[in-house]
Amino acid sequence: MSKKLLIGAGLALSLLFTPFNQAFAEKPTVGERKQVENVAHRGAAGYAPENTIAAYDLAVDMKVDYIEIDVQRSKDGELVSIHDTTVDDGTGKVGDLTLEQLRSLDAGSWKGEQFTGEQIPTFEEILDRYHGKVGILIELKAPEYYPGIEQQVADLIKERNLDKPQNKKIIIQSFNFESMKKMNQLLPQVQIGVLTSNRAHTTMDALKEFSTYADWFNPSYGIVTKELVNQVHSNGMKIGSWTVRNQEAADFLFEMKVDAIISDYPDYVDPRN
Ligand code: G3P
Ligand code: CA
Repeated sequence: MSKKLLIGAGLALSLLFTPFNQAFAEKPTVGERKQVENVAHRGAAGYAPENTIAAYDLAVDMKVDYIEIDVQRSKDGELVSIHDTTVDDGTGKVGDLTLEQLRSLDAGSWKGEQFTGEQIPTFEEILDRYHGKVGILIELKAPEYYPGIEQQVADLIKERNLDKPQNKKIIIQSFNFESMKKMNQLLPQVQIGVLTSNRAHTTMDALKEFSTYADWFNPSYGIVTKELVNQVHSNGMKIGSWTVRNQEAADFLFEMKVDAIISDYPDYVDPRN
């Protein structure tokens, strides 16, 4: 029997943290929009159930540059894409369930009847279905729960030759900086990102330290300023910001001249979709 996933707690929390007090200038032109990497957060999660094939396929149809995926590990060692670290009523941990148990969950119907039966995808399934078609921004979600996950991710990427320097369309990011240092050692030619919503991580010293192993500094948009964008660039990194769920936020980030916008609604970033 399939159970419904309790997804959405993360979304509700994220919506609480959307400070937005900076002035907006004129709207960017389509030409300017093309300069920004359009990243579909958890797939096009505004329109389809997050972290499912339906959401990633839709994002590809919308011609995004990257899909963003959250990666965790099942009890029996399979890497899967799911955002929350618990499922069902919040008491079941992802890491305590086997792949079979996770795959028996209905990851789609909470978003609409038409998505009933969507399953939690595996990381390998995502790599095989999308590499070469669209960039993949891989977030290691709570890697501290999954010892050795960095090596496992590195092996799967290497098996597919996705660690080569010519492949600029794989980025690995996390809120866990130690994990990203490890990832950089394991895959020195793959782009690494650090995630934060903490202003303490925006000092010059902090940015300098991040730049020793990261290519991307990816903050929540509430802490983005022009000065921060310039400082990130002066440390040789790019900046991608999240999570855009309204047009004003997208326009604000264009004005800040970030390098990537991570959004549930890819059409806010590129209105041609
Ligand atoms: O890619 C950035 C964003 O995904 C980080 O936050 O909670 O949505 O995984 P979260
Ligand atoms: Ca994520």
